[in-house]
Amino acid sequence: MPLVTTTEMFKKAYDGGYAIGAFNVNNMEIVQAITEAANELHSPIILQASAGARKYAKQIYLMKLVEAAVEDTDIPIAMHLDHGADFEICKACVDGGFSSVMIDASSQSFEDNVAVSKKVADYAHDKGAVVEAELGTLAGVEDDVNVADDKAMYTDPDQVEEFVKRTGVDSLAIAIGTSHGAYKFKPGTDPKLRLDILAEVAKRLPGFPIVLHGSSSVPPKYVKIINEHGGALKDAIGIPEDQLREAAKGAVCKINIDSDLRLGMTAGIREHFEAHPDHFDPRQYLTDGRAYVKEIVHNKIINVLGSDNKA
Ligand code: G3H
Ligand code: 13P
Ligand code: ZN
Repeated sequence: MPLVTTTEMFKKAYDGGYAIGAFNVNNMEIVQAITEAANELHSPIILQASAGARKYAKQIYLMKLVEAAVEDTDIPIAMHLDHGADFEICKACVDGGFSSVMIDASSQSFEDNVAVSKKVADYAHDKGAVVEAELGTLAGVEDDVNVADDKAMYTDPDQVEEFVKRTGVDSLAIAIGTSHGAYKFKPGTDPKLRLDILAEVAKRLPGFPIVLHGSSSVPPKYVKIINEHGGALKDAIGIPEDQLREAAKGAVCKINIDSDLRLGMTAGIREHFEAHPDHFDPRQYLTDGRAYVKEIVHNKIINVLGSDNKA
């Protein structure tokens, strides 16, 4: 099956009450872990690369890895640009064969966000690719941008209809209390998403796919392994899985996961070195990191996304 766009994936997910996992990829082991787990569970998936991933691995290497995954598996796979900051990066990814791009102008004014999102949508659609945009601002760290908690803003449901109509984008990321990174809530606070805002947005955009960024659940198992093997991840708190599952049953068709994969890779490698301090062959410790990343994606598909057997 060749690389696909998210159009059909999202339509089926919306109607079926589940979501597609969008997993960030940076190297071969991560691509393999995600696609092997998804293939075993017959789940469609989105592999996504950030600007940081393109800088680290080079777009051409990532594309070839994803092409290999497409050939090696029997599931629908989309390749997506995560948090494209401007028209140029979106164009470079569309031209390079990505089937989907995100234009993230959420920190700009409504009018500027509309203008650049429409420009990207027009270009991408012309080349057969699809576009995600964002309204509202998430707290946390993306590449070099660090949005402080007090600058984060929930999406205003009154703006979504006009935004989608004027831009022609294919999906919309909204801010309902998720955030990037492994520290999403202060200890002692109630980790609650604004599912009421999601319901309002869904009412105004019937049938339209909604995206949640910053949706790692920071599983305690991996934080514990990291901390027991020399790490220091104090008070790392993620999004409760039951709330994500609830969102996936409704209008949310794409759920973004990166931090959890980083935790899995780091836990596997730290554990490996504690057991084998004499090892120095990357294949040995990366095998253990890859195994935890695969386990995490497997659990995510079953417990959060509900996308198993939907390929
Ligand atoms: O939303 C951000 C993703 O976790 C990507 O992170 O920009 O460090 O690759 P990155
Ligand atoms: P997490 O940091 O919660 O994994 O979010 C990743 C993300 O939103 C990528 O765009
Ligand atoms: Zn994100």
